[in-house]
Amino acid sequence: MKMIITGAGSGIGRSVARLAAQSEGEAAELFLVDRDQAGLDAAAREVAALGGRAVPFVADLSKPEGCTDSIGAAEAALGGLDSLVSNAGIVRNGPLKDLDVETFDLLFHINTRPTWLLGKAAYPLLKASGGSIVATASIAGEHATPPLATYSASKAALIMLVKQMALEWGPDGIRCNCVSPGPTYTGITQGAFNDASDPAQLLNRQRREAAVPLRKLGHPDEVAEAILFLAGSKASQITGINLTVDGGLTAALMPNTGSGQGH
Ligand SMILES: NC(=O)c1ccc[n+]([C@@H]2O[C@H](COP(=O)([O-])OP(=O)(O)OC[C@H]3O[C@@H](n4cnc5c(N)ncnc54)[C@H](O)[C@@H]3O)[C@@H](O)[C@H]2O)c1
Repeated sequence: MKMIITGAGSGIGRSVARLAAQSEGEAAELFLVDRDQAGLDAAAREVAALGGRAVPFVADLSKPEGCTDSIGAAEAALGGLDSLVSNAGIVRNGPLKDLDVETFDLLFHINTRPTWLLGKAAYPLLKASGGSIVATASIAGEHATPPLATYSASKAALIMLVKQMALEWGPDGIRCNCVSPGPTYTGITQGAFNDASDPAQLLNRQRREAAVPLRKLGHPDEVAEAILFLAGSKASQITGINLTVDGGLTAALMPNTGSGQGH
């Protein structure tokens, strides 16, 4: 499996790389993209230790040339492509009444636009292989999430973008899907709920766990398994979907309104 993984230096992307290297069957040939050199190198070492091949590539995907350069270098390194995992993303807090234009644009330039630019550049390679694209969206893309308004909007746009790609590129044999995680322990949630020794983070974690039917927040490997399923041939008849990996959180609207505690 020849695969590009963006945001591979940390969290979910790094789990995708590690689990791809561990999976049975075809050997993993991975092209790992991130702006964080140290994280990328660590991810590449993990893949190599598992017997996979990983080529690290530093790029800023908020820049169009960061996306096109990544695909060009991946083609040179791998000689083809089976799957693109467009996963890099950032979060910024901010109420809309105070938000500046730079932050708004940055979120769309990192969370939304690269999936199109990477997919567009990779289109001939994916058409040749009958390949796939999986983008990491978020449950925030379907559920407004103050104070992450622009993050939510950028992920909502991503979900629709990927559906558009699925329809336009389906006849070419390219499948395009999203995975939407709920709260998951990664780099992005450091300072929010990862550190249980911090009373504020512990409280935040406990509140969230109480709202999740499975009573636990996600591990990046749990999201990575869903991404790898959609990326691979076992999902050969699946395109245009958004697969939620959230412990049931978004199914729990009525219990979270207080139903079941009286009426
Ligand atoms: N962790 C969660 O709770 C959660 C929930 C829903 C969605 N997500 C999404 O999951 C995806 C992966 O994030 P994560 O949770 O693993 O966080 P993370 O911070 O651990 O990993 C994100 C990676 O993206 C890289 N990145 C960010 N901006 C980049 C840029 N401009 N160019 C290149 N690389 C860049 C970072 O360096 C980092 O290595 C993101 O799209 C995020 O929005 C995460």
